[in-house]
Amino acid sequence: MDLTTRYLGLTLRNPLVAGAGPLTGDLENIRRLETFGAGAVVLPSIFEEQIEEEKHLIEHMDAIGSDSYPEALTYFPRVASYALGPARYLELLRHAVAAVDIPVIASLNGTTDRGWIQYARQIEEAGAKALELNIYIISTAIEIGGDEIELRHLSILKAIKQAVTIPVAVKLSPYFSSMGQMAARLAEAGADGLVLFNRFYQPDIDLGQLALLPNLELSSSKEIRLPLLWIGVLSGRVHTSLAASTGVETADEVIKYLLAGADVVMTTSALLKYGVGHMEALLDGLKSWLSARHLDTLDHVRGRLSLRNVANPSAFARANYIRLLQSYQPTI
Ligand SMILES: Cc1cc2nc3c(=O)[nH]c(=O)nc-3n(C[C@H](O)[C@H](O)[C@H](O)COP(=O)(O)O)c2cc1C
Repeated sequence: MDLTTRYLGLTLRNPLVAGAGPLTGDLENIRRLETFGAGAVVLPSIFEEQIEEEKHLIEHMDAIGSDSYPEALTYFPRVASYALGPARYLELLRHAVAAVDIPVIASLNGTTDRGWIQYARQIEEAGAKALELNIYIISTAIEIGGDEIELRHLSILKAIKQAVTIPVAVKLSPYFSSMGQMAARLAEAGADGLVLFNRFYQPDIDLGQLALLPNLELSSSKEIRLPLLWIGVLSGRVHTSLAASTGVETADEVIKYLLAGADVVMTTSALLKYGVGHMEALLDGLKSWLSARHLDTLDHVRGRLSLRNVANPSAFARANYIRLLQSYQPTI
């Protein structure tokens, strides 16, 4: 069976990608993910804040003289508190690239197009095959309009594209008034791929403590529908690769995303829940499903149920929504 997949101009042995998360921040896990069949891995993000903080530390040390280095560190205690600083991130990246044959994709996470962007060049020099740019903007400033946020996405992408020659995928949120147009504009601005979607970590409220509870819940398969909808709508209509991210628990979600038109399918939560060996279960499940249908490539699967290919495109649209609401049968 040939599951060879093109993603961001790279050739992957199959469409299963270990998404950004804590597990891919460890070299041994990266090796094991390769053994368990992953087509590629995305490292956890390095954040703009980390890069900027280290830059300020270095500037400060230059100003006061390098002899004072240990003392200077105490002025910036937060630098040491990050799991993986910018230098160690590059080290992990170099080691990962040397350790595995599958593509290693680095991840940058930020919200501005300022100086930190130059770090992307170091990521390229360290051997990343591609860069995933996670633009995680939660605009709590009510005076800032959607147009400004959209332009910010485009200008960050353009700055990154100027800094590197490796392919760049943009991981974005679904919260745009016109998701489709935003996707098309990112493609025009040079995005080699779109990762749909970022999962925002909204706080809950602790009723006992009367406090915000910023805990992180892993996803479940129920959450695939929003990315599934947009992958289906965009497949074959924007000139970029499409990666599905969110809610993959079993091979069923992988297959659904491929049918909607995803080039690759990423998983993070399921690996955290079931272990890195779960990658093999996903791959085996995909192969069994294909075998049962006598398919030995993904050619007749990918995008088969996208908006472009489906017999009844209104299933994606408002007409279907009205039909669904009006035909719902209460069970109580
Ligand atoms: C514990 C944890 C850490 C994550 N860290 C990152 C990260 O560093 N960068 C990033 O782009 N996404 C990160 N993500 C988001 C995942 O890559 C993914 O987009 C999201 O969890 C949805 O996919 P899933 O349903 O397979 O988990 C993280 C997710 C989890 C659960």
